[in-house]
Amino acid sequence: SKKLSSTIQEAPLTSDVAYELADIDWDSLGFALMPTDFMYIMKCSRGQTFSKGELQRYGNIELSPSAGVLNYGQGLFEGLKAYRKQDGNILLFRPEENALRMRMGAERMCMPSPTIELFVDAVTATVLANKRWVPPPGKGSLYIRPLLMGSGAVLGLAPAPEYTFLIYVSPVGNYFKEGIAPIHLMIDTEVHRATPGGTGGVKTIGNYASVLKAQTAAKAKGFTDVLYLDCVNKKYLEEVSSCNVFVVKGNVISTPSIKGTILPGITRKSIIDVARSQGFQVEERLVDVDELLDADEVFCTGTAVVISPVGSITYHGERISYRNGGIGVVSQQLYSALTRLQMGLTEDKMDWLLEL
Ligand code: COI
Repeated sequence: SKKLSSTIQEAPLTSDVAYELADIDWDSLGFALMPTDFMYIMKCSRGQTFSKGELQRYGNIELSPSAGVLNYGQGLFEGLKAYRKQDGNILLFRPEENALRMRMGAERMCMPSPTIELFVDAVTATVLANKRWVPPPGKGSLYIRPLLMGSGAVLGLAPAPEYTFLIYVSPVGNYFKEGIAPIHLMIDTEVHRATPGGTGGVKTIGNYASVLKAQTAAKAKGFTDVLYLDCVNKKYLEEVSSCNVFVVKGNVISTPSIKGTILPGITRKSIIDVARSQGFQVEERLVDVDELLDADEVFCTGTAVVISPVGSITYHGERISYRNGGIGVVSQQLYSALTRLQMGLTEDKMDWLLEL
């Protein structure tokens, strides 16, 4: 039928592979929600373990007005991506790392969480059910968003009596409107993202709500986003609202160490390994804000942002520029190495890919 044929396009870079694709404009994906066909839902009571979930048509969910997540922020999220290979198959990048991080976060937030195997199986089932939404090679990826929340009703402050694990997906392109072009950051000296002993090291939803004000103010001034400093000394780099940060000086690449206030990014961890395999010396340590002054390059990493070169950082009104505002050679090299690996264009020596 006409309708069916309009949703079948040939993969652009090969001549012999055809697979079903949703009928959308694959050339204009940004990072915005595009509803897809199915979502995965699984529930369990406090003290129990998650066992069996199901795929449902994508749509709104029902929650009690007194759900723990709505009232007290008892919630976590994850983010990972699926890429389309040249042969039409689909690649997941390190999904068990997200499963593990969700388990660590759940422990901090007093929630039960799916086992690694259950998590990966659920992600796989959700991606396969929505496979016509995985962009063709080179056009973007399918962003996968697992959620874990206290869905049971509470009134007094306590862990919720019931939990919901949910996965939805959306095809995405670049996170920042700049694309792979350098972003412009400002350091907010008043707002801090995380505190020692707090929840900065887990992917709880509140970490993201709490930076909206600083992020909105930075955007109103023309910056892309905010780079936060530690709240105790107010001089060590932490991270950006939605990504980790790296500083390049010669052959040495430094990034803030994981010490409770830094989100342990999976792209961060992967880039450390990729950079080492390419001969860079990578240091995880305290990075002083003054080091920004004589760095060669700065870049950000995250699942959503991938690798984003930083063109400038403004601190106390002073603008520090990198590589004349262009894409740094190291950022470019690491971006290319990582994305080629994620798309299945180079050998998966580290065994990071799960092929569906
Ligand atoms: C991701 O990079 O996947 C994240 O979870 C960050 C989010 C703010 C988009």
